Amino acid sequence: MRVLSGIQPTGNLHLGNYLGAIRNWVRMQDEMDSDSQCFFFLADMHSITVHEERAQRLRNVREMAAALIAAGIDPDRSVLFNQARVPAHAELQWLLNGTARIGWLNRMTQFKDKAGKNREGASVGLYVYPVLQAADVLLYQATHVPVGEDQKQHLELTRDMAVKFNTDFGVDLFTIPDPIIPKETARIMSLRDGTSKMSKSDPSDMSRINLTDDDDAIVQKIRKAKTDPEPLPETAAGLEGRPEAANLVGIFATFTGATPDSVCAQFVGQGFGAFKAALAEVLVEALRPIRTRFEELKGDDAALDAILIKGAEKAAAAAEPTLRGAYDALGLMR
Ligand code: TYM
Repeated sequence: MRVLSGIQPTGNLHLGNYLGAIRNWVRMQDEMDSDSQCFFFLADMHSITVHEERAQRLRNVREMAAALIAAGIDPDRSVLFNQARVPAHAELQWLLNGTARIGWLNRMTQFKDKAGKNREGASVGLYVYPVLQAADVLLYQATHVPVGEDQKQHLELTRDMAVKFNTDFGVDLFTIPDPIIPKETARIMSLRDGTSKMSKSDPSDMSRINLTDDDDAIVQKIRKAKTDPEPLPETAAGLEGRPEAANLVGIFATFTGATPDSVCAQFVGQGFGAFKAALAEVLVEALRPIRTRFEELKGDDAALDAILIKGAEKAAAAAEPTLRGAYDALGLMR
């Protein structure tokens, strides 16, 4: 088993990233057998599709590395690196640009969302973003890619590209990867609007819980989270059509290891005031150790850089055979 996943180092790690992806990365790392390997990386090359000052980007990459380690990624067991240090990603992307079809990229909903109305003004980087993502995955012959629901379409495209390349050039070069998207945490929603996902790019910080938020901020954000006036229902079926309520119950269930049904049974008939107080307590307890560890790691640039450099060396070695195979299949002499 080869596990691989990435995260853009923009802004803070939030509860959506954590529950949707990082928690599963940690679980897969911890359950890994001796034949398996895990690769986790900071998609800093992807992050240039959003403008950022140089100093801020440098800080973001190191802080996201610290956050991943704080959340449980162990650089001694998993290969942890930043994409820019492994040029094979950019190289394979170029080779895959010959395989990717414009029609495929035109269907990507994330491009449509991020480009907005001004399609002509969007960067080429944003448009070909999914080709770089395919290169990320295919370079390492990844079999399992743990992500949130919003990455599903990019991974389907990755599979299409792998199949087309293998077929077009008559090779068995790329492994076809499977996305791993746990149903319960596939889409953690904004605390302000149960119909949009929790996201780093939401201008309102009240819409998300950051893994760096202190206890008071967590309590405030949960207290102010949007809900509806109805009490908690008897079972989760009663949360139908109540996206904000369903989201909060789902988060509570995930952290306590319960099912949404049993959370409803526990709080049935109570208003959201009481439930939110209990949820805030659960979150504060669960996130405190991660935040404490993050604070210890943050700022030690030399130590973080050393980890990322070592990870990049391992990643580059693992990527090389695939990259060589791709050049060779295309008849390119290096
Ligand atoms: P990114 O940085 O937006 O998010 C990182 C991971 O967090 C998940 N996620 C969520 N899951 C549930 N609910 C949410 N509200 C939520 N918000 C974010 C994302 O699905 C993702 O798994 N393009 C990717 C990074 C990437 C990548 C890759 C991933 C680059 N190359 C190769 C996998 C394989 C991205 O922007 O994720």
